[in-house]
Amino acid sequence: VERTFVMVKPDGVERGLVGEILTRFERRGLRIVAGKFLRVSRELAERHYAEHREKPFFEDLVSFITSGPVFAFVLEGEDAIRVVREMMGRTNPRDAAPGTIRGDYALSIEKNLVHGSDSRESAEREIALWFRPEEIVDYRRAVDAWI
Ligand code: GTP
Ligand code: MG
Repeated sequence: VERTFVMVKPDGVERGLVGEILTRFERRGLRIVAGKFLRVSRELAERHYAEHREKPFFEDLVSFITSGPVFAFVLEGEDAIRVVREMMGRTNPRDAAPGTIRGDYALSIEKNLVHGSDSRESAEREIALWFRPEEIVDYRRAVDAWI
């Protein structure tokens, strides 16, 4: 099994879409193994988006992600990284397919509701950045045999 880091961004919290977004992942069969609600510090935001430091939109990205609380969580399941990325849809919601989170609920490339790790390396790095090991719970559900 694989773990991936996911976050409902400030626009998702503001719009009351945390439950809707979590529900989609739960119904797909992914397991929530960690979660927290927090206001992101500038330092954490800059570390999280370090790969974009040189991009022209970096400053906007950091101020957006620190502009309000986020819901950060870790999902576990077979191929979780790829499955979550596909459920999120393309980065620019205007290109995202209907049926994806961005394709159903967003229009702005900045306010695109969710983040999900884009590779094994990012997932490992981001999970370690956002959660302490003891905040991640290892368990199996009875229903996992049916998914
Ligand atoms: P994240 O899950 O948030 O990392 O999105 P992503 O992996 O689909 O996209 P990427 O990592 O390439 O970019 C990170 C974030 O920067 C995106 O979610 C966008 O909000 C923002 N972003 C990416 N490209 C652009 C751009 O060309 N212009 C602006 N304004 N924002 C951008
Ligand atoms: Mg990304």
